[in-house]
Amino acid sequence: MKVSRRALLKLGALGGAAVALPLAPTFASFGKDQPAPSPLVPRFTRALVIPPVIRPVRRTATTDFYEVTQKEARVEILPGLQTTVWGYEGMFPGPTFRVRRGREIVVKQNNLLPDGVVVHQHGGVTPADSDGYPTDLIPPGGSREYVYPNGHRAATMWYHDHAMVKTGDHVYKGLAGFYIVDDEVEDRLPLPRGRYDVPLMIQDRRFAADGSLVFDPLGHIGVIDGDVLLVNGVPWPRFEVASRKYRFRILNGSNSTQFKLGLSTGQPLTLIATDGGLLPAPVDLPAIPLAMAERVEVVLDFSRYPIGSRVILENLDGAGRLGQIMRFDVVREEPDDSAVPATLRPVESIPESAAARTRDWVFGPRATMSASPPVEWVINGREFDPNRIDATPRLGDVEIWRIKNATELNVGGMDHPVHIHLVSFRILDRNGVKPGPYEDGWKDTVLVPKGEEVRLIMRFEGDRGKYIMHCHNLEHEDAAMMTNFAVV
Ligand code: C2O
Ligand code: CU
Ligand code: CU
Repeated sequence: MKVSRRALLKLGALGGAAVALPLAPTFASFGKDQPAPSPLVPRFTRALVIPPVIRPVRRTATTDFYEVTQKEARVEILPGLQTTVWGYEGMFPGPTFRVRRGREIVVKQNNLLPDGVVVHQHGGVTPADSDGYPTDLIPPGGSREYVYPNGHRAATMWYHDHAMVKTGDHVYKGLAGFYIVDDEVEDRLPLPRGRYDVPLMIQDRRFAADGSLVFDPLGHIGVIDGDVLLVNGVPWPRFEVASRKYRFRILNGSNSTQFKLGLSTGQPLTLIATDGGLLPAPVDLPAIPLAMAERVEVVLDFSRYPIGSRVILENLDGAGRLGQIMRFDVVREEPDDSAVPATLRPVESIPESAAARTRDWVFGPRATMSASPPVEWVINGREFDPNRIDATPRLGDVEIWRIKNATELNVGGMDHPVHIHLVSFRILDRNGVKPGPYEDGWKDTVLVPKGEEVRLIMRFEGDRGKYIMHCHNLEHEDAAMMTNFAVV
């Protein structure tokens, strides 16, 4: 019987700690120990691609109507090789939705893929029947209309597949795109806009020699670490910039890989927004951690560099090629009338005294003989059941949710980026300490590292109905680390 060393390493089970895993017979078939590396890709040769903004097919006085067809496509990601992806409109990433706060849109999704799909707009305040509940499948050949009221303040959000037990596989194949909300408050700010406002979706992937995607979830530990970094679907792109300021909206769209952003020049990143929109004030940071599904917006000023300079966006968590994400080549001068104002947008601090109650959620592994490796990912000791409601906050109530990442079973455990649908929250503290500046704003996803406890405060507003909270390591989500709450 052979246990994949890589899976155990990812699980944190090795490295001195006592390993007390019960060995199930299913272990024999578990994992391949040495995956072949992806075909070697030259870095910084292909230009960054910016996903096109999708246009409505018709408009009424109140609503913009869009239509999207999900289908397979053959695309060239690695030079000279074809990769089959699943794309919204056949694109990887999908087209960008750019919407106005308060302006409703309706998106008809047609499914030409060979599997049932679900679309979730991550970060939005969406009625439950349009939120992309994991069992609300659009069957192959079918279609469904999603209604998005867009009541959320301006923010960088995204949309992606959410099919029960298949989310990791579907997103890995390409079903993800940006969803950006604009509003009047941001309109009034002099931040870089238009072609100087650029979304960047960072993802790791692994490819076979023929160019096909290798999806190996290592049982349910988390997809095998990629050895190719993609930005908007292009491996290690280069982006020609002018010597001026740019706004970058950065999303970690990976299944199970965390990043830590930094610049090769040591220049700090000027953070202006988190998941749920602008911060009260910009903050300069030498490094910004970014877990799966989290977004940050940064302004980078290239005017400090002479023409001809090259600045690499780095992953300070990665080694070798994985330590680099993309390159900015400063190639021309351009006037710049943009600015980063000293104050951006007030962010409400909800006082703890406003909370009607505190709920406890323990994310952790549970020993089992029926999975390989023999742990399951559960919340409060129970796996996801679409028919069980685990919390019923009342509409309008403020609640504190205390989320603990338990490491049990003598295995080191894994980090869990916890995402709550419907609400934006503030982080009260991590292990009793105030959150770092990179997450001290509106959030919908929070990394809860192994052994840590994070307290969140949030107001349940927008809609009544059944919503989910889950781990955004998509393989954990698919392996039942998800729970229902119903706003009543
Ligand atoms: Cu980004 Cu429930 O997901
Ligand atoms: Cu979501
Ligand atoms: Cu997890």
